[in-house]
Amino acid sequence: MTAAGTFGYGTEYSHLFDIQKLGAIVCKGTTLEPRDGNPQPRLVETASGLLNSIGLQNIGVKALIKEKAPIWANWRVPVMVNIAGETVDDYAQLAKELDGVAGISGIEVNISCPNIKAGGAEFGVNPESAARVTAAVKSATSLPILVKLTPNTGDIVGVAAAVAEAGADAISLINTVKGMAIDIATRQPLLGNRTGGLSGPAIKPIALSMVYEVAGAVEVPIVGCGGITTGNDAIEFIMAGASAVQVGTASFANPRAPLDVLEGIEQFMQKEGIKDIAELIGAARR
Ligand SMILES: Cc1cc2nc3c(=O)[nH]c(=O)nc-3n(C[C@H](O)[C@H](O)[C@H](O)COP(=O)(O)O)c2cc1C
Repeated sequence: MTAAGTFGYGTEYSHLFDIQKLGAIVCKGTTLEPRDGNPQPRLVETASGLLNSIGLQNIGVKALIKEKAPIWANWRVPVMVNIAGETVDDYAQLAKELDGVAGISGIEVNISCPNIKAGGAEFGVNPESAARVTAAVKSATSLPILVKLTPNTGDIVGVAAAVAEAGADAISLINTVKGMAIDIATRQPLLGNRTGGLSGPAIKPIALSMVYEVAGAVEVPIVGCGGITTGNDAIEFIMAGASAVQVGTASFANPRAPLDVLEGIEQFMQKEGIKDIAELIGAARR
């Protein structure tokens, strides 16, 4: 799968390679109203990583349903819509609007957003608020829901167990790791928003250990994400317990990265004589 926010609406990439070969496309985080996002600069490269503070710039759910979904309805590759809100009701409303729309195969719930009713802490930092969002989305839609965890919590296993219990059909992890960079010449943070989210190879070991821990605690399928750049990276996540993977930051350096990862997985399987990827899921746990 492609990771939310790193592959637009898929349409931007369709002329670069055959995106229909992918397992799924997860589109940019979508909110009820269109958003302009955070002040520039919003991207900073770091050692082996990328810091971003895009701030959920997006066209809003109404335009997505009107302009993007009809295109997706003609695709072989399923598209999942990543949603974000500031209140539990926002999430439920988004899920309701997306329910039954042709071209939309599922919803990925981004719980790394500040809960404005609870003073701005991310929904995903504690099991209770994460479960509330999950339950509200689940009861508002018949679409499969993937709940995407944030690493910025001290209790990733507790949050995973709570969202599984609340009805998540699958769990994806991880979102970006909070970080910052400072320009020593100006003595100011490099990002317009001061802090942002770190992604790319720098976070892969963190993501991998979180997938490993969560896989030991829940029964629902896990989608691993964080720094995956090659097929071998993806195989590590699968061996940690993921049933599928997402490719994010790697697409910025190489737009074909999601397909390269898929082909890399196939090559590994051929080399090892593996017929069914299920043989590898959780192999490092046994
Ligand atoms: C520029 C950028 C924008 C992102 N936007 C979103 C988003 O809208 N919703 C979301 O859930 N995650 C978003 N993410 C997080 C990615 O989907 C992914 O979880 C994270 O970057 C880790 O994977 P990676 O190291 O392969 O990029 C964004 C990441 C980047 C780099």
